[in-house]
Amino acid sequence: RESLAEHARRSGRYFGMAVKSRLLREDKGYRAAVARESNILVQEYELKRGTTEPKPGQYDFSGADQIIDFAQAHGMRARGHTLVWYAANPPWLEPAVMQAGPKDQRRLMTSYIDTAMRRYAGRITEWDVVNETLEPNEGRADGMRAESLWMKAMGEQYIDLAFRRARKVDPAATLYLADFGLEHDSPRCERRRTAMLKLLDRLMSRNVPLDAIGIQGHLKPYKEPFNQRQFADFLHTLSGYGLKLAVTEFDIADRGGPPSPEKRDREVASFAKAFLDVALDNPAMQSVLCWGVSDKDSWLSKYPEYKWPDGQLSRGLPLDGNMARKPFWDAIASAFDAA
Ligand code: G3I
Repeated sequence: RESLAEHARRSGRYFGMAVKSRLLREDKGYRAAVARESNILVQEYELKRGTTEPKPGQYDFSGADQIIDFAQAHGMRARGHTLVWYAANPPWLEPAVMQAGPKDQRRLMTSYIDTAMRRYAGRITEWDVVNETLEPNEGRADGMRAESLWMKAMGEQYIDLAFRRARKVDPAATLYLADFGLEHDSPRCERRRTAMLKLLDRLMSRNVPLDAIGIQGHLKPYKEPFNQRQFADFLHTLSGYGLKLAVTEFDIADRGGPPSPEKRDREVASFAKAFLDVALDNPAMQSVLCWGVSDKDSWLSKYPEYKWPDGQLSRGLPLDGNMARKPFWDAIASAFDAA
C-alpha cells in the first residue's frame, strides 16, 4: 500500500509528521518511515527558542538544520514551529523581556524572528509565527492567555508585531496562528473557539498579515465528544476570513479507551476518520501533520495526563512502536481519498 504522502498528494495536499533530529540520525526504521510516509515535516522541538537560542544571541540551529536538510533531500516541504510562544523559551528570555523597555522588548521578539526566518527562507515555506495565544481558564474576558510573557510585556499587540515582522522578513512564507482545543463539542473547546473568532475579528480589523490557522488536532475522544457539524461550521467560519487551514499536530489520546489494543486501535481509527472527513472536506485545508512518527516516540506516552499508568504505549499515532501501520493509518488514507 502506498504512502500517506501519496494519498495526500492525490487530494492536492500534504501529509507529514513532527520529527526529532536525533531519531532521524540514529534510528533507521524511524528514518525510513518518515521518508516513506511524508511530504512535509515539522520539528518537534528543534526550532523552539529554548533549543535554538540558549544564550542571548548565541544560536544553535543544528537540530533544525538536520531536519530541514532531510526534508530537502527527500523533496519534502517543511514548516517552522514556532517563532513566538509562551513556552519552551530559554530561561534568560522572560527576565530580559520583563526588565526591558518597550523598544527592547520588541527587539527581543523580532531578533529571533529575523534570525530564524532569514536562515530558512525558501526552505521553510510556512511558520507557526505565534503559537497558543488562547487560554480562557486564565480569567481574561477575551479568553487570551494572560500568563504569556509576551502578553504581559506588550498586551495582545505582540501578535500584530510578530506577524508584521514575519511578513517583512519572508514575504513568501505562509504565516500561521496555531492553537489547540478547537476541535471537540465541549465547553472547554467552545470557549476557545469563541475566543479565537473574536481574536481574528480584532486582528483583521488591524490588518494583521495572518495567512492561516493551525488547528493542532490533539484529540481526546475518550474525554470529550466530537460533533462533525459543529467542527465543520467552525472551519467554514475560519476559511470565511480568507484563511488557509492545516491540522498541524494530529494525534489521539487513547487513555480511557478499552483495554484491548486491537479494539482501541479500531476506535481511534474511527475517531480519526470522523475528524478528518470534516477537516479535509474544507477546500482551505492544506495539510495534515501528526505530532510524532510512531507510538514509541509520541509525547502521549510520556505526558502525565495521557500516558498509560501501566507503562503501555499510547496508540495515538498511525504507526505502532514497530513502525507498523495501524487502522489509524488506513483512516487517514481513506479520508484523503474521499477528499
Ligand atoms: O532535549 C532535552 C534533553 O537534552 C534534556 O536532557 C531533557 C531533560 O529535560 O529535555 C530535553 O528536551 C525536552 C524536549 O521535549 C525533547 O524531548 C524538553 O525538556 C521537553 O519540555 C520537550 O517537550 C516538548 C514540549 O512540546 C515542549 O517543547 C515535547 O517534546 C513536544 O511534544 C511538545 O509539543 C507541543 C507543541 O510544541 C505545541 N502544542 C502542544 C504540543 C504537546 O505539548
